Amino acid sequence: MRIVLGVTGGIAAYKAAELARALIQNGHQVQAVLTAGAEEFIRPLTFATLTGQKVITGIFSSASPEATLASSVEHIGVAAEHELLLVAPATANAIAKFAHGLADDFLSTLYLAFPGRVVIAPAMNNNMWEHQATRANLEILRRRGHLIVDPDDGFLACGTYGPGRLADIAKILAAVQGNNRDFAGETVLITAGPTQEPIDPVRYISNRSSGKMGYALAEAALARGARVILVSGPVSIDPPAGAEMVRVRTAQQMRDAVFAHLDLSTVIIKCAAVADFRPTSEAKEKIKKTSARIALELDPTPDILAELGRKRGDRLLIGFAAETGNLREEARRKLESKKCDMIVANLVGGPDSGFESDQNEVLLALRNGEFIEIPKMTKREVADEILTHAIELKSGAALEQSSK
Ligand code: PMT
Repeated sequence: MRIVLGVTGGIAAYKAAELARALIQNGHQVQAVLTAGAEEFIRPLTFATLTGQKVITGIFSSASPEATLASSVEHIGVAAEHELLLVAPATANAIAKFAHGLADDFLSTLYLAFPGRVVIAPAMNNNMWEHQATRANLEILRRRGHLIVDPDDGFLACGTYGPGRLADIAKILAAVQGNNRDFAGETVLITAGPTQEPIDPVRYISNRSSGKMGYALAEAALARGARVILVSGPVSIDPPAGAEMVRVRTAQQMRDAVFAHLDLSTVIIKCAAVADFRPTSEAKEKIKKTSARIALELDPTPDILAELGRKRGDRLLIGFAAETGNLREEARRKLESKKCDMIVANLVGGPDSGFESDQNEVLLALRNGEFIEIPKMTKREVADEILTHAIELKSGAALEQSSK
């Protein structure tokens, strides 16, 4: 790919040199563009040496001749010649300029002229990252279809700890290299992981879901160009770069988060293992150990998938079924009773599929009565199979709609 690497002025600018080298090693051509702020942190010559190309530093040809190609219309030519604009690190200031269309240097002018795919990897102080202004600006960029590779948590140069550290090079690379863009324009709402239903301040009811299947779906959808909102129960795995995370604990919180994001979404995948029951009441104090038998009274939790089935409109709705037998019958029953387009049924209880495992083997039940068996493969590969059948269903539905 022909990539423009925009580097803006933050301490993480030095990591952009490593990123440039990784892009080159993966076969891409890289044109580096440095803002004036970036030049305070790293010299253009570093990028010129790594990329074998002159580096663009200013909108007018004024900077050092060995590193600069600038001319007053160059941004138009550079925009037309490149397929992807990657801005890493992107400061809060650069993000604000992109969001509001300010064009006062080469990079922000190039951004406005750029017709191709845009990937932005922010890095900044944690308070700046969490500021409402930054959140709102990022939301504007996401709505434009740009992929945001969220920063990692860590110790920051300013001495604080929190989100703001430039994402790992591998994550940025993965975000850049997604080739099949068949989910571009879709907003996929995915639920993943278990829920925890509190018994008292230290105990809860939950299940063995690790979040791996749901996170693999999020990763695959992002790689295929989707905007992904990932509503996740408590898990210990890292979220995929670019996913908009909504962290919840209980089934009720998951239900509320799903319906808060329903309007935005065009595809919904309910992979979470939602607890079916919760304690009727949560004890305020830790329940003391005694030798007497105690009974726990349970109430059913909200059935999120069933409610989605009633309120989905024309969104594509995919549910899961975790079963210990009768896969076909259960998948068909859930497909109909929850008004889904697809049920992904998997056998749970075995050692190397279903819960916790890195692999899965699933049966897809489709609304036209068809069953598709997906043999054992990694959860990431299963995720791609599910998405391929999902997008076929979606385009079939669009065709039906247009022929009416
Ligand atoms: O997270 P991993 O370790 O990778 O494991 C993956 C998985 C086994 C959790 C996953 O593949 C899976 O099967 N997820 C669905 C688990 C489940 O709750 O299945 P179910 O048959 O009990 O529920 C059917 C459907 O209703 C599911 O889409 C579920 O999200 C939904 N549901 C269930 C209960 C409830 N109160 N509300 C719901 O929306």
